[in-house]
Amino acid sequence: MKAIFPGSFDPITNGHLELIARAKAFVDDLVIAILHNPDKAGFLPIMQRKELIEQACLERGLDGITVVQDSGLLVDLAKANGCRLIIRGVRNTADLDSESAMAHANALLLPGLETIFLPAHGNHAAISSSLIRQIATLKGDTSHFVPPCVQVVLENIYNKQDRK
Ligand code: PNS
Repeated sequence: MKAIFPGSFDPITNGHLELIARAKAFVDDLVIAILHNPDKAGFLPIMQRKELIEQACLERGLDGITVVQDSGLLVDLAKANGCRLIIRGVRNTADLDSESAMAHANALLLPGLETIFLPAHGNHAAISSSLIRQIATLKGDTSHFVPPCVQVVLENIYNKQDRK
């Protein structure tokens, strides 16, 4: 089976990577889709997010993964990539509420498209990209939350800002 794992990945976190590894264990092909979330202001350029996902997956030894990006609807991208399954992570009950609404809307937009949720495990339930950006801005240690390649990028961005 081929599944799609969508998100804004701004940037990819250890929580995302853990979910990707678990998803990969029960699907044959996994498409990671970087999409636009209209509720979030973008931080990293899309191509940099893509490179970081690819590098982080490589660092973790996760293969058989394709990374794509699009500015349109998730359902259209799922169809274009031959995916009938969406995989999303949920960290808490608030996530479950919003994700259920999204899953329902996507199934109405493309009948036959199913969504399954993977619960975030342990410490990963506390991780969000926005929290990590906040920690990085204030020069906190992000190594608990992001893969090494993302940590380097965050440090470069915020150290450069200091020198201005
Ligand atoms: O990582 P995020 O920000 O929680 O991911 C949300 C995302 C990007 C998957 C969602 O906003 C999305 O699907 N955007 C694409 C546009 C779309 O299809 N919107 C309708 C969703 S019901």
